[in-house]
Amino acid sequence: MQKTAKGFVAKLLAGSAATVIAFSAQALDVDAAKDLMKQNKCTQCHGVNKDKDGPALQKIAAKYKGKADGEARLIEHLTTAPTVKLSDGSEEQHKVVKTTPAKDLAQVKNLIQHILSF
Ligand code: HEC
Repeated sequence: MQKTAKGFVAKLLAGSAATVIAFSAQALDVDAAKDLMKQNKCTQCHGVNKDKDGPALQKIAAKYKGKADGEARLIEHLTTAPTVKLSDGSEEQHKVVKTTPAKDLAQVKNLIQHILSF
């Protein structure tokens, strides 16, 4: 009787560990996001808490965090090269995030979740 109960608990624990692992596979991958930003030189124009040619990442996060359409708008921003104004007033097309393989939406979304976490 006791053995069965133990076995049941062990199974329960194993089950929840599997759930945690499955969940973290989809959770934010900070290192991948940082790598992608480095490769794309995003930080040339965006500091964490400092405006450069573009707004600080913390400002961007504050603007979009918790908005229902936040992620969708940022995906659009990062994939369609909209015209933006630099801090010196000049205009240029914003960088499109380059991923390997190309146009990998999962990587773009991961990057956006990372930005929104600031
Ligand atoms: C040449 C400079 C430059 C580079 C490089 C750059 N950005 Fe930007 N970024 C800007 C400017 C300027 C803005 C727009 C500011 C505005 O119009 O309010 C902007 C805006 C943004 C926004 C906010 C859009 C909004 O609607 O508020 C995000 C998110 C963003 N950039 C992410 C990135 C990412 C990720 C990268 C790297 C793939 C990147 N940027 C590379 C200059 C740059």
